[in-house]
Formats: sequence, structure tokens, C-alpha cells
Amino acid sequence: MKLTAAQGSEAPELAAIHAAAFPAGAAWSAGTIATLLGMEGIFGLHAAGGFILARRVLDEAEILTLAVHPEHRQQGLGQALVETAALAAATAGAKVMFLEVAEDNVPAMALYARTGFSRAGLRRDYYAPGRHAWLLRRSLEE
Ligand SMILES: CC(C)(COP(=O)(O)OP(=O)(O)OC[C@H]1O[C@@H](n2cnc3c(N)ncnc32)[C@H](O)[C@@H]1OP(=O)(O)O)[C@@H](O)C(=O)NCCC(=O)NCCS
Repeated sequence: MKLTAAQGSEAPELAAIHAAAFPAGAAWSAGTIATLLGMEGIFGLHAAGGFILARRVLDEAEILTLAVHPEHRQQGLGQALVETAALAAATAGAKVMFLEVAEDNVPAMALYARTGFSRAGLRRDYYAPGRHAWLLRRSLEE
């Protein structure tokens, strides 16, 4: 699978993947994605069927979103996107990477456990009342 740096001009395609990957109401618009990709410190990686957006500020990085189209799942794409984003952030100087994930998101929790993330805290009512998120953390140092 070929991963490339996501460009603002690809925002409509990325938004279509996001809409297919997330429940209605949670999808990000092309405008939101294009705006994020234009912000300092934010970078994205894109492959056919999936993408990841992340932000690096000084020595900390954060995964903003990760989406794999249902037709492209369980073929290693999500893992490749996370590992490549972690490597890119580390190369740019990040020492640690964070993300938030819904506590009931079994596929994502499994993917992040497999890619070296561990639980750093519970953010109560993060998505909605009663919908909590785990804050996950991964060291990017050797
Ligand atoms: C979570 C998501 C990105 C995984 O993408 P993917 O390309 O299917 O993941 P991969 O094929 O790289 O899987 C890597 C590992 O993740 C875990 N995993 C992935 N899907 C899983 C599932 N449905 N059930 C259990 N574990 C799963 C497995 O450990 C897997 O490794 P293995 O296949 O060797 O067992 C994808 O399901 C998705 O886009 N979900 C909706 C959006 C979302 O939840 N994004 C994350 C929000 S923080």
C-alpha cells in the first residue's frame, strides 16, 4: 500500500472516507479537513481507502483522526497509517504521541494496543454525556 502526504486539495476524497468510516453526525466535512491541513504542525497521510491526521507541537504529537473505509479494513492499512504517522512525528522531534478513543470502540482500541499505545487516563463524557474516551499514550523514544 502506498502512503502519501495528504494535501488540502484531497479534502473532498478524505471527507468521503471519513463519512464512510464514522457514524452519521461524527463525520468531518471537506472544509474542516482542508482547514486542518492548512494549520501549522498538522500533517496527514493518505492511502487508497484510508487516512490519518496528526498534529505535532514541539516534542508532543497527537492523532486527530484515523479513518479506514469499511471496504479496506482488516488489511493492515490502519496499522500502517498509525506507524507511519508515529515515525513522521518522531523524525520531526516528537517524543510522545497521544490520542483519544471512544471506550467502546473495540477495533480502534485493539489497533492502538497493537501499535504500542497504553491507557493514560479516562476522559469522562468526552463525546457526549455517558460516552467516555480513553486518553492513550505512546512513547516515541527508543
Ligand atoms: C479502527 C480502524 C482505523 C482500523 O483500521 P484497519 O485498517 O481495519 O486496521 P488494521 O487492518 O491495520 O488492523 C490492525 C490491528 O487492529 C486490530 N483490529 C482492527 N480491526 C479490528 C476489529 N474489527 N476487531 C478487533 N481488532 C481489530 C487488530 O489487532 C489488527 O491486527 P490483526 O489483523 O493482525 O489482528 C477502522 O476500523 C476504522 O476506520 N474504524 C472507524 C473509525 C475509527 O474508529 N477510527 C479511530 C478513531 S480514534
